[in-house]
Amino acid sequence: MVYHWQSLNTKVSGVDDMTLLSKINDDSIVENLKKRFMDDWIFTYIGPVLISVNPFKNMPYFGENEIFMYQGAAQYENRPHIYSTADNMYRNMLIDCENQCLIISGESGAGKTVCAKYVMNYISKVSGGGALVQHIKDVILESNPLLEAFGNAKTVRNNNSSRFGKYVEIIFGLGGQPTGGKISNFLLEKSRVVSIGSQERSFHIFYQLCLGANEPLRSELGLSQPNNFFYLNQSPCMTVEGTNDANDFRETLNAMTVVGMQEAEQRDIFRVVAAILLIGNIQFHESENYASITNRRALERPAALLEIDSELLGTKLVSRVIDGKWGRQTDRIEMTLGIEQSLYTRDALSKALYTRIFDFLVQRTNQAMVTPTQGYTMGILDIYGFEIFQNNGFQQFCINFVNEKLQQIFIELTLKAEQVSTVVKIYFIQDIFDQITGSIFFLWLFLYFLKFIGDWSNAFIKPNMD
Ligand SMILES: Nc1ncnc2c1ncn2[C@@H]1O[C@H](COP(=O)(O)OP(=O)(O)O)[C@@H](O)[C@H]1O
Ligand SMILES: [Mg+2]
Repeated sequence: MVYHWQSLNTKVSGVDDMTLLSKINDDSIVENLKKRFMDDWIFTYIGPVLISVNPFKNMPYFGENEIFMYQGAAQYENRPHIYSTADNMYRNMLIDCENQCLIISGESGAGKTVCAKYVMNYISKVSGGGALVQHIKDVILESNPLLEAFGNAKTVRNNNSSRFGKYVEIIFGLGGQPTGGKISNFLLEKSRVVSIGSQERSFHIFYQLCLGANEPLRSELGLSQPNNFFYLNQSPCMTVEGTNDANDFRETLNAMTVVGMQEAEQRDIFRVVAAILLIGNIQFHESENYASITNRRALERPAALLEIDSELLGTKLVSRVIDGKWGRQTDRIEMTLGIEQSLYTRDALSKALYTRIFDFLVQRTNQAMVTPTQGYTMGILDIYGFEIFQNNGFQQFCINFVNEKLQQIFIELTLKAEQVSTVVKIYFIQDIFDQITGSIFFLWLFLYFLKFIGDWSNAFIKPNMD
């Protein structure tokens, strides 16, 4: 007889798979999820799709026991679980010799990143390989705290919200053991470096560095309490409940070491992070219609940390150079900026520095997971969720757009095959979406492009600063 987990004397809450619901509408779906949630079961299937409801508390079913239970088991042998989905992917890859991809979607704070981490943990536990591949596993797992320190922040909805999207590919050898990996990152919310909402924080690393670095490092970097820096004190929110920034800093340092960054390299990264905070404290005032720097001494430390000339840094913040070409003639014009433009230039510099650090960290992590062998891959896509802020910039539009697009792909690939009756609704949403894709999006792009050209001159500070 085929074994089913319900054949044991277990309490049943709602249905495990919502394709089994006698009536399928919003109410019955919500009712079923609620029933299960009240019984502390957060996972439910719709065919091959797993729905997870954020419990906001630790559930007792993520231990070693469960890892053992779900290993190699068929879907119906156990209750719905993220481990079952992960196990399915892993087995399918090995048996069908096919690359696999897990798409995790949901609004901000829904629990996507936590799920992605459970999947990575599970795969790391069940895939063999012994000591030889332990290093690759460590790098894959430690890339999480590292990228979270630099790419996550407290938002209104989530104390550890990912402000970037990532696609982690794990590459496996013929025996199913991880031999390498690759992380692709997208859409880092770099605007958060220079402006934050009142109940939010900037990226964790700034607070970690201010509070966790030892005294010699802090004084070398010219750092003090977070509320002394404009980029951080725009919001009164300095701490996150249940989080200790100093302890987390030690975890970040450990993660950097695991991905192979030597102490000198780590120090270089922190020099740039500190320089960004110090650049944010540079102020301007108006003199004869032009901006000039109020606190010139504030230039010295960030310039020293970036190993550039402080005078040159000062000049670049209040002026711009335009290279013009008229036929064969080239012209170079130096213009002085107003206060608003100077503030914009200062912030553009900080944002550019931060994105480069982030890209560098991803690149560095990838170097530690590089493999010459070409095997099957398992990809885990964890983007950052749909969110509407009081002020929504172009970047937020892109994020929400990607979320919607992903939702459409997901519906195309899965639900449509399961439920023909929902097709009408899906197409309706799809139509609206196609309209956006076809018209408004390109209008936006065009407007943004115009704005970009307007502010283009900021780009000129780059070549000279490098
Ligand atoms: N399975 C879970 N068990 C316990 N807490 C969870 C779980 N999933 C999410 N959480 C809580 O919710 C918070 C937000 O989850 P997260 O995965 O960061 O959301 P998202 O990535 O969707 O924005 C986490 O920091 C954690 O406190
Ligand atoms: Mg996340």
